[in-house]
Amino acid sequence: MAFIIKKKIGNGEYFYLNENKRIDGKVKTKTLAYLGKTRKEAEEKMKKILKSKIEINPELKNSEIKKMENSDSIKISIEDMAVFCKRKGFVFQSGEIYGGLAGFWDFGPVGVELKNNIKKEWWKYHVYQRGDIVGMDGSIITHPKVWKASGHVDSFSDVFVVCKKCKKASKIDRAELGKVKCDFCGGEFDEKTAKDFNLMFKVQVGENGESYLRPETAQLMFADFKLVQESSRMKLPFGIAQMGKAFRNEIAPRDFIFRNREIEQIEIEYFIKPNSDCIYEIPDEEILVYSAEMQEKGLNPEIMKIKDALKKGVIKKDWHAYWLAVQFRWFKSLGANPKNFRIRQHKKDELAHYSSDCWDLEYNFPFGWKELEGIADRKDYDLSQHEKFSGKDLKIFDEETKEKILPHVVCEPSTGVERLFLVFMFDAYHYDKKRENVILKLNPKLSPVKASIFPIVKKDEFEKVAKNIFKDLSSEWKINYDESGSIGRRYARNDEIGTPYCITVDDESIKNVNVTIRDRNTTNQIRVKISNLKDTMRKLINGEINFENAGKMVK
Ligand code: GAP
Repeated sequence: MAFIIKKKIGNGEYFYLNENKRIDGKVKTKTLAYLGKTRKEAEEKMKKILKSKIEINPELKNSEIKKMENSDSIKISIEDMAVFCKRKGFVFQSGEIYGGLAGFWDFGPVGVELKNNIKKEWWKYHVYQRGDIVGMDGSIITHPKVWKASGHVDSFSDVFVVCKKCKKASKIDRAELGKVKCDFCGGEFDEKTAKDFNLMFKVQVGENGESYLRPETAQLMFADFKLVQESSRMKLPFGIAQMGKAFRNEIAPRDFIFRNREIEQIEIEYFIKPNSDCIYEIPDEEILVYSAEMQEKGLNPEIMKIKDALKKGVIKKDWHAYWLAVQFRWFKSLGANPKNFRIRQHKKDELAHYSSDCWDLEYNFPFGWKELEGIADRKDYDLSQHEKFSGKDLKIFDEETKEKILPHVVCEPSTGVERLFLVFMFDAYHYDKKRENVILKLNPKLSPVKASIFPIVKKDEFEKVAKNIFKDLSSEWKINYDESGSIGRRYARNDEIGTPYCITVDDESIKNVNVTIRDRNTTNQIRVKISNLKDTMRKLINGEINFENAGKMVK
């Protein structure tokens, strides 16, 4: 049984959700969650937590919880998402058996599949399906001068402050000192102990050497710019893409995997001839637009076509409009809910040291609108810095003008896999009242497991067919084989991890060499010949065919 308790810590009062359980004849109390600083906040949060607990423990269902089930598409809190991700094997706190280490996370069996699928889809769309972007994979530790040239040694810092009241550490910008209050308790920050805190992790290299774990993947693309351009004979405009680990010693990692110390970044540096126009048509996308001017004048964001925002001068550069639309389209193509997105321009005092203009693609997380992807105009800041610090010429020859030029990075779409992961999880998460379980409506391309194969009963003749199907499909996708529990339980287990198709081997399969495929979202079923199964699955996963047309509907 779960209940709220109040704890006094220092001068503050904090509410927690505790649970009593009888273990080996003794009643043991376990703290399940922190609920906030007021009873009202605690009660609301408890309701949400209990709602997610019914998925773990059906006995918890009572009339109070039933009321909360009335919505199919609910946005659960980030804490509930963390609970769900742990329970289903998506994400665990790293080193949990030792109490965990703040800002570090491990991806479990289904989490790693989802993460890999997100990366695969990103790479396909941005590298394979375009002729103007090539990839690279730089090292995590590189020459320390790279970080001196980039400005990270001198400028990549936050202001570290401690709250006078709750004593918790926070990060703020220098301009915010004396103006903002502690997020946790509303207390004042101690200005006397405020200090600049560089976010790079230092590492020892060999016996006496020193460098840093890279805080972004971007710099490797600048340092290797000439090598990439010459070896792949790229002509402007072109881009270099990279994905990989980056590390930031964040002062206050928070919100599950939203702000971490170890991240996986995905970035493109898109190089153009200085001041040249965009050569591509701007995709026809409509989105909530929030310019720096709107923010400064206290106006609300406006729904606009990105093309129109460019025409009206809200977005200044055609390249910026183009990349914002291209990025937004990618999220939509994989089933993200467009209503949860907006683009927001950085105000002057927010711009990073290298950037002259920056638009963020933001997502409406349960804790508010937050940066999902930054798209900065870096001009020639990085290439000129690396020319200066290395003494090497990084200019390239322009056939048209017969001159050597230093390209500009007009846009740097830069995001983190963990935030993409959260977006797809939040938009996919549904609670189905009728089925009484969570349905993770992930696009099949992203689903960790593409299909689960069930022999209807544990008998040799069914198992043999089911195992052969498993073997055949597994050569292409992650497939599960599930023979335990009722068919209903097996469906529910798969719905919860987003498996789009469940394939059942039944009596008919033995007689007529066919199987049923059940669609996760609708529960509709079709019958398909086993000889056509792999091809049908491929078409279904790639969205090339409607489920209802992929086989004979089962009534
Ligand atoms: N090269 C530019 C750059 O690194 P950034 O705005 O510092 O820019 C880009 O980071 C993206 O990387 C962010 O939009 C976010 O998706 C991801 N990111 C940055 N810091 C992060 C952190 N501590 N935890 C999770 N993701 C982070």
